[in-house]
Amino acid sequence: MNAVLLQYLVIISFLHHASSNSIPIFNAIYSFGASYEDTGNLAILSPTSNELKLPYGETFFHRPTGRASDGRLVIDRIATYLGLPFIPPSLAQGQDFSKGANFAVFGSTALNLTFFQQNNIRINILKNDTLSVQLEWFENQKPSICNTTCMKFFTKSLFMLGKFGFNDYLNMLFAGKTIDFINSTIPLVVETIKSAAERFLRQGVMHLVVAGIVPNGCIPGILKYFASSNISDYDSLGCLKVYNNIGMYHNTLLRDAVKQLQVEFPQAKISFSQYYEPIIDFVRNPCQYGFTRGTELRACCGIGEPYNVNISALCGQTGVPACPNPSTFINWDGLHLADASYKIIADGWWKGPYADPPISGSLIGSSLNSV
Ligand SMILES: *[C@@H]1O[C@H](CO)[C@@H](O)[C@H](O)[C@H]1NC(C)=O
Ligand SMILES: *[C@@H]1O[C@H](CO)[C@@H](O)[C@H](O)[C@H]1NC(C)=O
Ligand SMILES: *[C@@H]1O[C@H](CO)[C@@H](O)[C@H](O)[C@H]1NC(C)=O
Ligand SMILES: *[C@@H]1O[C@H](CO)[C@@H](O)[C@H](O)[C@H]1NC(C)=O
Ligand SMILES: *[C@@H]1O[C@H](CO)[C@@H](O)[C@H](O)[C@H]1NC(C)=O
Ligand SMILES: *[C@@H]1O[C@H](CO)[C@@H](O)[C@H](O)[C@H]1NC(C)=O
Repeated sequence: MNAVLLQYLVIISFLHHASSNSIPIFNAIYSFGASYEDTGNLAILSPTSNELKLPYGETFFHRPTGRASDGRLVIDRIATYLGLPFIPPSLAQGQDFSKGANFAVFGSTALNLTFFQQNNIRINILKNDTLSVQLEWFENQKPSICNTTCMKFFTKSLFMLGKFGFNDYLNMLFAGKTIDFINSTIPLVVETIKSAAERFLRQGVMHLVVAGIVPNGCIPGILKYFASSNISDYDSLGCLKVYNNIGMYHNTLLRDAVKQLQVEFPQAKISFSQYYEPIIDFVRNPCQYGFTRGTELRACCGIGEPYNVNISALCGQTGVPACPNPSTFINWDGLHLADASYKIIADGWWKGPYADPPISGSLIGSSLNSV
């Protein structure tokens, strides 16, 4: 207990010291992902989407920014904790990318488009912006960041791989693929994410966060579209078991992959970060986290019983209201989380228990000496 407290105090004083002397611990954040991570590429690629209308953004930015939430995402909070500005979307023109870039795009998948075409899966994607394409965008931007000094620069950058896989499985579900088929693709999805991580680590990246996926079966939109008349398909929380099993299997394999990377690149700090565990914790004990019991499987913004989700009347469309107090809701629009959830998750990634090792702990472990 004392050791934990001491470590915490060290972190606090270290960060205080760092910020009061304006010494940046990290140069930059590079982020890759989909809607849980996108800080505005959606707005550039698809300016007429529902997410570009109020009440999106109503809680924090007070205007829609392209973030699929009422406010900040995990990456926004982590940037702030590191003393960095909000990280601009990579596709934006005339932005300052000296503190990093966010390549995440709403709807993006881990697997290439050819995978979906070959398997006859109609995919709902804004453009060719899958994980391997995001990596290519990053490579293209590199000359403007660093030429001969990339190794050195990336030593002090935080790389974040978002919850890739969620949209892969969602597109397969909507295309009517069986659970067995989806399950059989999980090793390939995880291998693809691992390869992306390896690509960064081989370039000298020293701080990498790899996120697992959400409990799909507790997400209001999935509960609505894949509702079952068989009560034994639901667990004691009211979540659909089979979709949670998909998420659990994905996360187990991904966690193993991260462990392998930790062995392969022992000098790097690689964190496995979670969405699954915090969301289950929120749903199980909503009041403990400031959420209202009875709303844990409902969207804040939407219409319809029992999950407040209706595909013909989505958040952002005319006449679709948001709940009066979004901070008491886990879920924002049926698929994405609310500002309040993202904050608790970000805090859990930063100092535990939702990342292993916590991101702030990984700072103590290495950069402290080099600052
Ligand atoms: C995806 O495409 C990239 C190149 O664009 C390729 O290197 C990679 O092997 C492909 N991955 C899969 C799973 O097809
Ligand atoms: C997507 O982009 C990648 C890299 O730019 C390219 O190799 C691939 O052929 C593209 N796929 C499609 C279906 O357009
Ligand atoms: C890298 O080199 C290119 C071409 O010489 C140059 O335009 C760019 O400014 C350089 N980038 C950095 C960060 O020095
Ligand atoms: C998915 O496949 C794994 C490995 O074969 C198996 O252990 C697991 O039970 C399967 N999960 C589902 C939901 O079918
Ligand atoms: C409901 O699901 C259980 C477990 O999968 C199964 O054994 C049972 O036959 C199902 N009941 C009906 C009515 O389909
Ligand atoms: C969904 O919304 C549409 C359009 O507003 C409405 O006509 C329909 O009755 C709604 N369905 C449900 C189940 O609420």
